[in-house]
Amino acid sequence: MSGLDKVFTPIEIKGVKLPNRIVFPPTDTGFGTADGFVTIRELDYYTRISRGGLGLTIVGASAVTENGRGFPNVLNVYADRYIEGLSKLFAVIKKNGSVPAIQLSHAGRQAWMPSFEPVAPSPIPCTLKSEGQGLVMELVKPRELSLIEIEEIEDAFAASAVRAKKAGAELIEFHGCHGYLIHQFLSPLSNKRNDDYGGILENRARFIVNIIMKTRESVGNNFPLCCRISAEGRVEGDLTLEESRILAPMLVDAGVDVLHVSSGRFENIDYISPTKEIGECVNVPLAEAIKECVDVPIIAVGAIFDLKTAEKIIEEGKADMVAMGRAQIADPEIVNKSKGGDFDSIVTCIVCNECGLSLYMESGMRCVVNKNLPKISPETPRIRV
Ligand SMILES: Cc1cc2nc3c(=O)[nH]c(=O)nc-3n(C[C@H](O)[C@H](O)[C@H](O)COP(=O)(O)O)c2cc1C
Repeated sequence: MSGLDKVFTPIEIKGVKLPNRIVFPPTDTGFGTADGFVTIRELDYYTRISRGGLGLTIVGASAVTENGRGFPNVLNVYADRYIEGLSKLFAVIKKNGSVPAIQLSHAGRQAWMPSFEPVAPSPIPCTLKSEGQGLVMELVKPRELSLIEIEEIEDAFAASAVRAKKAGAELIEFHGCHGYLIHQFLSPLSNKRNDDYGGILENRARFIVNIIMKTRESVGNNFPLCCRISAEGRVEGDLTLEESRILAPMLVDAGVDVLHVSSGRFENIDYISPTKEIGECVNVPLAEAIKECVDVPIIAVGAIFDLKTAEKIIEEGKADMVAMGRAQIADPEIVNKSKGGDFDSIVTCIVCNECGLSLYMESGMRCVVNKNLPKISPETPRIRV
């Protein structure tokens, strides 16, 4: 197996069998309709990804409330009318031999929604910063959530999980990283509340712990749940690895079966999809440190571009699974090709991050090296499936 025995050793999570340890991490595409339905483009994209031979395909951040959408044309899960399209998406992933999953998300103060007022734990705006791009952008000041609204969003996560399960998702991931609403609660930088949801870590974690417990109650004990965290905010005053090592067992006790370890937030966006300057495998030490304090499988992610590196990470016990985003966007066949030892024909990601930057454009996600990515154009509009 080309020296990739660990990568191609199946793993089972709550009875769900993953044929191998490679994960496609959640990537928003902007291929949905303006009102969040699955389109032919989205189906085409996940068809190409899931037939590439990977174990777990996590559909990108999908909104649990109307005002929680992170980018234009992302998918929604906040109403029953979205179940039909999502079921077609999960069916295609499953048919291709990968386990279908979805990331549930609320962007809070990072929401993209010209017609809504963003909400957050505290009325503190986010300053998006990229040193690499020389970019500094102040986002809209959010309104502070009331206690009733917080509980409603917790319920919305659980209700969306039930919808996703009904549609055929076999694992649910909570978007707890990158400065989205759950991370906004966790971080002292964006959470200045004086009630039960602010202050000490136990209070800042209440939102995610309640989301996990409410979801667990709604989907039953045998359904796999995962939480994605930024184990380091990579901004002074944000969540530290030390705190994340206390947080991780709290999340497991609340009911998650897998932890997905990322880092960064919009204030230091270069870490989210690590730029060339940031370097490769930057979150692997964080994954390893989290793995030491919990007894559930850990997914490592962040600038891991080939399966030999993934093999080494798993072999050295630093993580149990490896997510590769841009590498699979650049060449969705990377897993099959590597399995067959055909390393020479792999199209390599050049780390230009055009894929992430293009999310704000009408075209949706673009890739410089993968010209086969489905395109949105006036000739090929956003047709609902
Ligand atoms: C186009 C694009 C969309 C993304 N969308 C999401 C998302 O919806 N949710 C999320 O948690 N991370 C998102 N990310 C971050 C990726 O999941 C991943 O963590 C990051 O790209 C680092 O992995 P990589 O170096 O293998 O690409 C996105 C990244 C890209 C490039």
